[in-house]
Amino acid sequence: MDKSPTILISNRLHRPISAITAYDYPMARLCDEAGIQLILVGDSLGMVVAGHPDTTSVTLTQIAYHTEMVRRGVKKAVLVADLPIHTYDDPEMALESSRLLVAAGADAVKLEGGLGQVEKVKALREAGIEVCGHLGMLPQRVKEEGGYKKKGKTADEVEKMVAAAKALESAGVFAIVLESMLPSAAEAITAAIEIPTIGIGAGGSCDGEIRVLHDVIGASPWFVPPFATVHGNVAEVTTIALAGYLEEIHSTR
Ligand code: KIV
Repeated sequence: MDKSPTILISNRLHRPISAITAYDYPMARLCDEAGIQLILVGDSLGMVVAGHPDTTSVTLTQIAYHTEMVRRGVKKAVLVADLPIHTYDDPEMALESSRLLVAAGADAVKLEGGLGQVEKVKALREAGIEVCGHLGMLPQRVKEEGGYKKKGKTADEVEKMVAAAKALESAGVFAIVLESMLPSAAEAITAAIEIPTIGIGAGGSCDGEIRVLHDVIGASPWFVPPFATVHGNVAEVTTIALAGYLEEIHSTR
């Protein structure tokens, strides 16, 4: 039986794959105990935890710190940590950064981009490090792109993403996140590869779905992306609890 790490990770991901981000111990533990299969320490923490306008200021040290917290809460799920922007500019840097995240507790790392990442993925796989790909709208490139733009609107763009997905698959990624693209584009990519696709704002044909935790539980009400699925109202519950606490202080003094 093939006991390579990729097979072991793949065996833990059953379609439809459920994935979500988490950034700290209690939330990671709740996600894990709820039965989520893949937990991502996403660089979205720069936005929903640190309050920045995008993910481009997140550092490796920050992701490593949050990965340690999340590791303590995750017993069953596959724990993936994001490589932040400019921490994988070449294969050597990718290797050094990924080793740090694995030492912090990650089962795998995720990087954004297509053909330009193939050599880095190969270097990581040769070192035994699991890698998740990420195609479509790439948040780390939001500044160059001038905003968050949906992908897959032209045949040429879809063709390039399909080619990138195949190249990433051959290089050894165990799954690819498909972010913000037309459903038809995600369908074409999913049909072209054997490894699972995990969608966010990419229609219903991916092998799984990933969401930002704060969007799902309603913990960051100031901005909710159009494709977010909100299933809770943590902001309201927190505000009510704080009002109760204030009331307690004022009524007992
Ligand atoms: O950083 C993140 O949360 C992500 C998900 C949106 C896939 O990359």
